[in-house]
Formats: sequence, C-alpha cells, structure tokens
Amino acid sequence: MREQLLEMKEQALDELNGVMGLANLNDFRVKYLGKKGLLTQVLRGMGALSPEERPVIGQLVNEVRDSLENMITAKQRELQREERLGKLAQEIIDVTLPGKPLAFGKKHPLTQVLDEIKSIFQGMGFTIEEGPDVESDYYNFEALNLPKEHPARDMQDSFYITGEVLLRTHTSPVQVRTFERTAPNVPLRIIAPGKVYRRDDDATHSPMFHQVEGFVVDKRVTLGDLRGTLLAFARQMFGENREIRLRPSYFPFTEPSAEVDISCMMCSGSGCRVCSHTGWLEILGSGMIHPKVLSNTGYDPEIYSGFAFGMGVERVAMLKYGIDDLRLLFDNDLRFLNQF
Ligand code: DAH
Repeated sequence: MREQLLEMKEQALDELNGVMGLANLNDFRVKYLGKKGLLTQVLRGMGALSPEERPVIGQLVNEVRDSLENMITAKQRELQREERLGKLAQEIIDVTLPGKPLAFGKKHPLTQVLDEIKSIFQGMGFTIEEGPDVESDYYNFEALNLPKEHPARDMQDSFYITGEVLLRTHTSPVQVRTFERTAPNVPLRIIAPGKVYRRDDDATHSPMFHQVEGFVVDKRVTLGDLRGTLLAFARQMFGENREIRLRPSYFPFTEPSAEVDISCMMCSGSGCRVCSHTGWLEILGSGMIHPKVLSNTGYDPEIYSGFAFGMGVERVAMLKYGIDDLRLLFDNDLRFLNQF
C-alpha cells in the first residue's frame, strides 16, 4: 500500500505539471482528493492491514494528502497569475473615450434674477452696499420718518426680537446707514440687496423675501432722474418695448412718493389676465427722499436731494418668468428649479 501511495503521488506530480487553466486544476483536485477520488480508493484497502501497519500507513496517507493540497494551492496561484497577466495584455485602454459627465449645479432663479438686477444697476454706475438683517427700531423705522405711533408702521407687520430690535422689514435702513457713514459726500449711487422679513404667508407673500433698495443723492437730483433710471432698468430687465408709469403713492420716507408700474409684457398693455386687464404691472415703490431722512443723517436738504426705490426680487422673478405661486421659489423642487 505504501508503494501504491507513493506511486500515486509521483503520478499526480507529473500530471499536475501538465495542467492548464483553473478549470482543469479543479478536475485534477476532484480526481485525486475528491470524495470518490484516487486517495479515497487507496484508503479503502486500509481495512486489510494489520493493527501495527495501520497508524504508519495512516500517517503516510496524511502526508500525501497534505503535499497534494500544497501542490494544488501553489499551482492555483501560478495559474491565477497567468490568467491576470493574459487579461492585462489583451486589455487596451482607449484614452480618447469621453470622460464620465459631472453633474453641475446651477444658480437658483432668485439668485439669477438678483445677479441680473445688480448688473443692470452696476452698468449705470451704482455700487453695492449691505446692511444687517437684525436691525434696530431706529434704522428700520425712526430715522426713516416713521416714529413710534406712526400708523404707516402697520403696513409692515414685523418680527420683534426685543422692543427695540427686530428683523428688518425692508432694505430702506441701508439708506440711513449709508448716509450716516458718507455725509456729506456726493454723488451716491447705491443699491442694497438683501433679505427682509414680515409676518405674511400666502401665494404672493413669504415671511422672508428679498428686496433691492436703490438710492441716488447729489445736488439737483430730480424726479426726472428717477423716471429715467427706472425706465432704463425696466427695459433691460423686461424687454426693450416696456413703458413705465408713476402713480402717486405714500411712503413716510419719500415726498413725493410713487408706485412704479411697467407695461404688461404678456399683452403689451392691451389688458390680459396677468395684469388684471389694466395693461400695467406694479414692480416697485419709489420717491424723492424725504428732507427729514436727509437731515436726520447729515445731508442738508437745502443743498442735496435724492431719489430712492425699493423692489421685491421675488416679484420681479415671478413677473419675468410667469410664476404664479411664490412658494415654488422656496420649495427646492428640482423639477421646478431646473426650468431656469
Ligand atoms: N421700503 C418700502 C417697502 O418695503 C419700499 C420702498 C418704497 C423703498 C419707496 C424706497 C422707496 O426706497 O423710496 O415697502
């Protein structure tokens, strides 16, 4: 039996040298070490051995099995390596293939509109100022000619932090801050974009929204300058054929005050659903800066005059793109946002 085992080992070694490919190696393993393999067949003869021979042969069987297993493992590594090298040699890397596309983000429609507003006014020589979102009663109301018991405060229902500190309800306080810092330097041509807050929430109002304040101060600034500036803006923003009209209005910080409308771009002024059949769309509030606001901040109203305006960015975006529900702008639904 010993000879049988050694002979089998010899034979296996010979055969293993000739094995090609991993599939064949597996066949080889089954042939020798499998349940019905050659080694098992030899083992069947163990029953005929004497009790003294049995452990000796048993040990030999184990040795043969171990060395076969080791040989198979080594061969397996060798074959795997060959296979890998073979694949690599065949593989051609095509460096001209296009790369994987990257998903780019894009600007929110409000940011796009705000960028456009800024660039139109920058084109007319305006520079940009900013002010704080958390504002004092003085800057938000008092210095803008809105004293404590003034009924016009009711137009802007506010979020108060303390009795004297609130979230600004408009960007007009930036006028006051800028005047205080610059007086009596002229000319001033400033826009002040930013967030504002009011206790409002429906299809056309949101508790947080954006405004762009604009103001010009110099000697001999007139209502004609206001009109010309806003007409130029309206035509760049909404199309060359737009007209504007000034409607008398009231703001405590301007005198006179005017609401500015643009001719409806849906019907060009003949009247349609969008403009409620008036031919006009309201886009902003404006006026000549009230002498009190100027004198409060160090500009002598006898020498200097100015105009100011404030527009809602959401409103401009809704008009420009025909968006009928303001809340779409804040829902972050990509199906909506990707249209811009
Ligand atoms: N601050 C006003 C508001 O939010 C808008 C406004 C009106 C601003 C007239 C101005 C202005 O500068 O002159 O309702």
